Amino acid sequence: MKVFTARDLTQSHILDLKNKGLTIGLVPTMGALHQGHLALVKQAKENNDIVVVSIFVNPTQFNNSADLEKYPRTLEDDLEKLKSVNCDLVFTPNTSEMYCNDEKAELFNFEGLDKEMEGKFRDNHFNGVGTIVKKLFNITSPNKAYFGEKDFQQLQIIKKLVEITKQPVSIIGCPIYREDDGLAMSSRNMRLSKEHRQSAPFIYKTLLQVKELSKKSSPSEIENFVIDKFNNHHNLVLEYFSVANENDLKTANSFHNLHKQRGFIAVFADEIRLIDNIAL
Ligand code: PAJ
Repeated sequence: MKVFTARDLTQSHILDLKNKGLTIGLVPTMGALHQGHLALVKQAKENNDIVVVSIFVNPTQFNNSADLEKYPRTLEDDLEKLKSVNCDLVFTPNTSEMYCNDEKAELFNFEGLDKEMEGKFRDNHFNGVGTIVKKLFNITSPNKAYFGEKDFQQLQIIKKLVEITKQPVSIIGCPIYREDDGLAMSSRNMRLSKEHRQSAPFIYKTLLQVKELSKKSSPSEIENFVIDKFNNHHNLVLEYFSVANENDLKTANSFHNLHKQRGFIAVFADEIRLIDNIAL
């Protein structure tokens, strides 16, 4: 497994591979890897000759400098995990390799996708994600790139980014990988206190109840049900719950239309923010 930190070297190495007719699968990450990330790598391995994983904690997508500082960084451990799933190339640049001095996020027109849900609470977050993913696509010129449904809004925004920027890459969405108790795997889980870790599976349990309820109740009834559940929970605080269309991410008022819907949730466990979603 090759490990590169320089973008020029990465770009020229990958172009050589592509000139030999090999296909490239890219899995962008911010490191602190878990089985959810590795599932994306395994999927990419099945569909491509060469799998590239990027590890870069992207400053422009954090709206809180404390969150950026506290983001777990476990490079040695990550590299071991990537070797174990036969990753071919890891691109792990430092910040100055990806951004010039004071460079800000590019502003994209995501046609409103970035204004819903996460967008209401994380100002400019998706412009930061778009900025770094566009750069990563330019450096690694992947045939396919893999993103988790865990961050469903991000997945839809990346599809829109590719449409806007006309980059020749197929975006592949991968299912949410969970712990045995249902908690969606996340790099942030390792920061949970023992008590909050024990409470956190309540989020997915509630989503499963939401799925059941969606057979007979309206989205607003379901929203009230979720608000009530979390009002009565002793250490998890609901930030938002929304039933929204998969395509435009707009709040759904009923289940009687042509779109597929999902339930989306963000919860604070102390200062750790956890998100999850479920197809309805
Ligand atoms: P990160 O949070 O490291 O996630 C990298 C990829 O792994 C994302 O596509 C995310 O959706 C996916 N992922 C995380 N947890 C998952 C789980 N439990 N099951 C399935 N997939 C999961 O998302 C980012 O990094 C960044 O925003 C990035 C796209 C790298 C841009 O900086």
